[in-house]
Amino acid sequence: MQLLHLDSSVLGTASVSRQLSAEIVARHQALHPDITVVSRDLAADPALHLSGAHMAAFQGVAADDATITADLLKGNAYMDELFAADVLVIGAPMYNLSIPTPLKAWIDRIAVAGKTFQYTEAGPEGLLKHKRAFIASSRGGVYSAGSPAAALEHQESYLIGLLSFLGVTDVTVVRAEGIAFGPEAKEAAVARALADIAAITA
Ligand SMILES: Cc1cc2nc3c(=O)[nH]c(=O)nc-3n(C[C@H](O)[C@H](O)[C@H](O)COP(=O)(O)O)c2cc1C
Repeated sequence: MQLLHLDSSVLGTASVSRQLSAEIVARHQALHPDITVVSRDLAADPALHLSGAHMAAFQGVAADDATITADLLKGNAYMDELFAADVLVIGAPMYNLSIPTPLKAWIDRIAVAGKTFQYTEAGPEGLLKHKRAFIASSRGGVYSAGSPAAALEHQESYLIGLLSFLGVTDVTVVRAEGIAFGPEAKEAAVARALADIAAITA
């Protein structure tokens, strides 16, 4: 069994989503001692934004720029790691109502027609089968269903939608929200999320 662990917070050791994603990984290691973990710190080592040079390379034009060439290889590695993974653990804080840009840059490399999804006469079909995903979600405010700001939530819903589009429908969200509402609110939110992680059984 292989687990792909992605982090995208820029807050280093102060990051809540990193704390939660690490706990989810540790929980899987406890449940499956033989599990292999592959980690990507997307904030420390992000892919470049997609550019015209990338699109040309995807069309078969040889890249003549060493930076682009290295970045294309990074994208290939992202894809290989994704296909090899049985479990995805995605550390995903809310930044400006959505996800951090390094995580979006990762998505821009792995959402590829003909590889991770395809269009059929019946519509789009996800090609990633038999994978589970865990989203370690953290956010300063509260956006859960029923809250006044729920309509502004484009972080978890985007990731769940994207994963579903690619065929990953078994998605568990572990959430710590209201982190900015003071130390007690933060402590309580993290404690709830850690309890949810401890309850993961498979
Ligand atoms: C650049 C940036 C943008 C943020 N945007 C939002 C936001 O739109 N809504 C919100 O509730 N919190 C926002 N926050 C607060 C974070 O979601 C919160 O601090 C969360 O714990 C960050 O996760 P992390 O600790 O793993 O980085 C933002 C934080 C940063 C650093």
